[in-house]
Amino acid sequence: MYRLLAPAKINLFLQIVGNCLDGSGYHELVMVMQAVSLMDRIELVPRRDRQIKVHCTNPAVPCDQRNLAYKAAALLQQHFPDHDGVEIFIEKRIPMGAGLAGGSTNGAAVLVGLDLLWQLGLTQAELQTFAAQLGADVPFCLQGGTALALGRGEQLTPLVDLQGLTVVLGKYRSLSVATPWAYQTYRQEFATTYAQTPSEQEKARQEGGSATLLQAIQQRDITQLAASLRNDLEKVVLPRYPLVAELKEQFLAAGAIASMMSGSGPTVFALASSADEGYSIMQRVRRALPDPDLDLWVCECCPHGIQLETP
Ligand code: C5P
Repeated sequence: MYRLLAPAKINLFLQIVGNCLDGSGYHELVMVMQAVSLMDRIELVPRRDRQIKVHCTNPAVPCDQRNLAYKAAALLQQHFPDHDGVEIFIEKRIPMGAGLAGGSTNGAAVLVGLDLLWQLGLTQAELQTFAAQLGADVPFCLQGGTALALGRGEQLTPLVDLQGLTVVLGKYRSLSVATPWAYQTYRQEFATTYAQTPSEQEKARQEGGSATLLQAIQQRDITQLAASLRNDLEKVVLPRYPLVAELKEQFLAAGAIASMMSGSGPTVFALASSADEGYSIMQRVRRALPDPDLDLWVCECCPHGIQLETP
């Protein structure tokens, strides 16, 4: 039996460069991703038959083939057919449809856990190849920490980690955004602005502003970091969900160094100069928006990805 911790992620930067030129229908992105200490717990227990069973503490999470934890186990079983099935228990703390990669991080945890349970001896590169087949955010979830992610999100370069930086997360429980909807809507509205050729895409990447953020991270310059955040998907999600835009404003009014939507939303994150300041910001936002539907968390930036839980 193995127990793993699966951190959520936020996007400090998400630039949509254009369509992937391989015709996959995906977008070419520049992202800077950060693992945070809001985590799911995953338990893997061997079965004596070949079935894969998923159980989740959140009843809204589908436990069938749609679940990335299930897909990860099915993918490995297909490649290593000598192995029996597995029972997967997910203790869910990361909200669904939130832009926090909750599903992707569960998929990544199952890859790591089954590699151990089935004694597959996979290398990090092999695990990353399986991760990329499961979804664009799964490779980052596996690796965690702070990373630059190019292509669909699978081309990762680790960055100096931002351990110690406090992040406050806010999400309305009853709001969720389907990632395909966010990207499709963006394409409908902004396809005319897309870089079309490899050289145009390279130019767009150079001019997108990520270099300033990378420098800020390298130098741990929080002021410059705060000024360099970007998320292109805000352009479609904020107008459609005014509550998300209001939450972002309230984080800033409460003294956050910066605030931005994560991924395709609707979670908004805020950067705080210390854990104490993070709790103060959370309390001020709670007072300004006393809606019981609003969940708030104070987290830390996390220097790792999927980890075995130590007893
Ligand atoms: O890979 P994943 O299933 O997590 O992606 C969800 C959706 O997000 C895709 O179906 C696609 O619509 C969109 N997407 C995209 N370009 C990316 C990553 C995701 O268009 N690089």
